[in-house]
Amino acid sequence: MLAAWYETNGPAAEVLQVGQRPDPEPGPHEVRVRLRAAAVNPSDVKARAGSRKPIPPYVIPGSDGAGHIDRVGAYVDPGRVGERVWIYNAQWGRPFGASAQFVCLPEALAVPLAESLDFAQGACLGIPCMTAHRCLFADGPVEGLNVLVTGGAGVVGHHAIQLAKWAGARVAATVSSPEKAAHARAAGADVVVDYRRSDVVRDVRAAIGGIDRVVEVDLGVNLPVSAELLRPGGVIAAYATTGKPVPELPYAAMLWKNPVLRQVFVYTMPDAAKRQAIADIGRWVRESRSSGGPIFALAGRFPLEHAVDAHRAVESGTKIGQVVLDIP
Ligand SMILES: NC(=O)c1ccc[n+]([C@@H]2O[C@H](COP(=O)([O-])OP(=O)(O)OC[C@H]3O[C@@H](n4cnc5c(N)ncnc54)[C@H](OP(=O)(O)O)[C@@H]3O)[C@@H](O)[C@H]2O)c1
Repeated sequence: MLAAWYETNGPAAEVLQVGQRPDPEPGPHEVRVRLRAAAVNPSDVKARAGSRKPIPPYVIPGSDGAGHIDRVGAYVDPGRVGERVWIYNAQWGRPFGASAQFVCLPEALAVPLAESLDFAQGACLGIPCMTAHRCLFADGPVEGLNVLVTGGAGVVGHHAIQLAKWAGARVAATVSSPEKAAHARAAGADVVVDYRRSDVVRDVRAAIGGIDRVVEVDLGVNLPVSAELLRPGGVIAAYATTGKPVPELPYAAMLWKNPVLRQVFVYTMPDAAKRQAIADIGRWVRESRSSGGPIFALAGRFPLEHAVDAHRAVESGTKIGQVVLDIP
């Protein structure tokens, strides 16, 4: 099969190769998916660059993708052959992920793909939507609540806005440019604030009041602002931080609010939370159709042969939307 792979960590142009690899065969409880699209998420490029040591014998990167099941292993219903699916967590704890024509993985990681979505869209459902879902709903429904999505034009943030609106919340989002503001508004944000040029606390309070849930892309930088906006009993669910600065807890300012400071890591979130995310994402996809959604912004589509360019596009830091590999 055609695949992209690396044996050692390093820059994409130096370590990422594209060529022929052996076709995998599904083991017990596994399905084999003939992939047609794979997402390239920040986590995939960070792992290649060095955040995770490669699993021997080599790594085919990519957590998320979409295609159809073409073979099943023992104990899997043969009726699944031919099913259109989206996949998640494909390269977590395993060497071979989604940047290939075939991947074998536990059947629970291959989820039926709605007919209304194409494969590129299906490849966007894993990391971004499941992370957004966990941040929003780990502490209960958001109907009638005020949600702040920092980085509302990011891939996770964009889906968090859409899921929060679908679930009945009022949503404020922060962005850093007019183009990103338009992107966040298109996702449904009720108020959008440029966090580099405006006073986020003042503008969000004036528009919708205090915040019950924060979906946080940069805990270290934004914690003081989020803590100030948080209502008593509120939740800050952080899925990333830039590391500049290291998050410092405004302990006294937060204490009296009885808040929850939640960290979200999509790969290891509880199985029950994964099942709930999958069910809700399916409902969101079905129910958003009547209002023209959901929106999947694609920043770039690259043929699998150009996997190096796709990794570089993610690393550029300038993209708006998801980078996807089209798999021949
Ligand atoms: N924990 C998990 O399970 C998990 C899951 C998914 C993603 N992640 C991580 O989350 C990060 C974002 O992923 P993504 O796919 O959404 O990336 P993305 O599409 O590049 O979006 C990141 C967004 O964050 C914005 N941003 C950066 N610093 C900000 C700040 N201080 N305040 C507000 N917005 C800020 C960026 O825009 P500006 O810089 O222009 O503001 C950009 O729009 C990555 O580091 C990724 O590895 C973690």
